[in-house]
Amino acid sequence: MNRLENRLALVTGASAGIGAATARALASEGARVILAARRLDRLQALSKELPGSRVVQLDVQDAAGTLAAIQAVLEEGEFIDLAVLSAGLARGFEPIQEGDPEEWSEVIDTNIKGVLHGLKAVLSGMIARRTGDVVFLGSVAGRWVYPGGALYCASKYAVRALYEGARQDAFGSGVRFTSVDPGMVETDFSSIRFRGDEQRAKAVYAGVDPLTPDDVADAILYAVTRAPNVNIGEIVMWASAQASVTACKRET
Ligand SMILES: NC(=O)c1ccc[n+]([C@@H]2O[C@H](COP(=O)([O-])OP(=O)(O)OC[C@H]3O[C@@H](n4cnc5c(N)ncnc54)[C@H](OP(=O)(O)O)[C@@H]3O)[C@@H](O)[C@H]2O)c1
Repeated sequence: MNRLENRLALVTGASAGIGAATARALASEGARVILAARRLDRLQALSKELPGSRVVQLDVQDAAGTLAAIQAVLEEGEFIDLAVLSAGLARGFEPIQEGDPEEWSEVIDTNIKGVLHGLKAVLSGMIARRTGDVVFLGSVAGRWVYPGGALYCASKYAVRALYEGARQDAFGSGVRFTSVDPGMVETDFSSIRFRGDEQRAKAVYAGVDPLTPDDVADAILYAVTRAPNVNIGEIVMWASAQASVTACKRET
């Protein structure tokens, strides 16, 4: 049985990693998926795999552009009743005193303001129709801080606050909110964090069996396919070899 038949899902960050895997998982259960990110070629390639999907090119840092692009992709009378806000990134691993203010702005504008812009695009409609699911991509970095991660962690602490705040603001509306908070997942995340230094990115996952994007997508699918009276609030998931944000058992 297709458990997400008749659902229209927005996935931000669908051009790669966790967002792309989630789009596949939602589509496999019958959802019609709107794939959103900046890299149009990647979105179009994924869309070819997923029947009923469509693409929208947007930069979540841009409030007006995000709202307009999402509005424009909807047909008359349609509304998004499932949103997975996965667009996000980290930059650098420097101590905060050596950080680059331009990169701070990029991380804050993407991870915090970008989530707000995604929420703004979908939440009023869900509340008005008294139904919907919003899934936030938090992180264990939104619960525990590690050296060199201050700004990224701060952004994910903020995502956690937005998840909790949205739950309270929409209290009684029938909309469900979930924060999925993974540890180490092997994606392009580290390559982007280390500005394309592939060797350094690979070293993050060396000797461990990290989470995969499909593992995270599976947790998201679990949350959004529960009975209507059940709201899975928070899912913290680790690679089995990871005990904390600073402890990882590596096979050499
Ligand atoms: N990988 C991990 O270890 C890990 C762990 C915990 C949480 N997370 C979180 O999971 C989420 C997804 O990360 P990932 O690991 O899947 O990384 P990824 O493979 O690098 O994917 C990041 C996605 O975000 C999109 N994105 C980035 N900036 C954007 C912008 N300004 N506007 C629109 N889309 C934007 C990218 O698309 P475009 O570049 O095409 O725009 C891409 O689709 C992030 O929020 C991340 O913080 C990751």
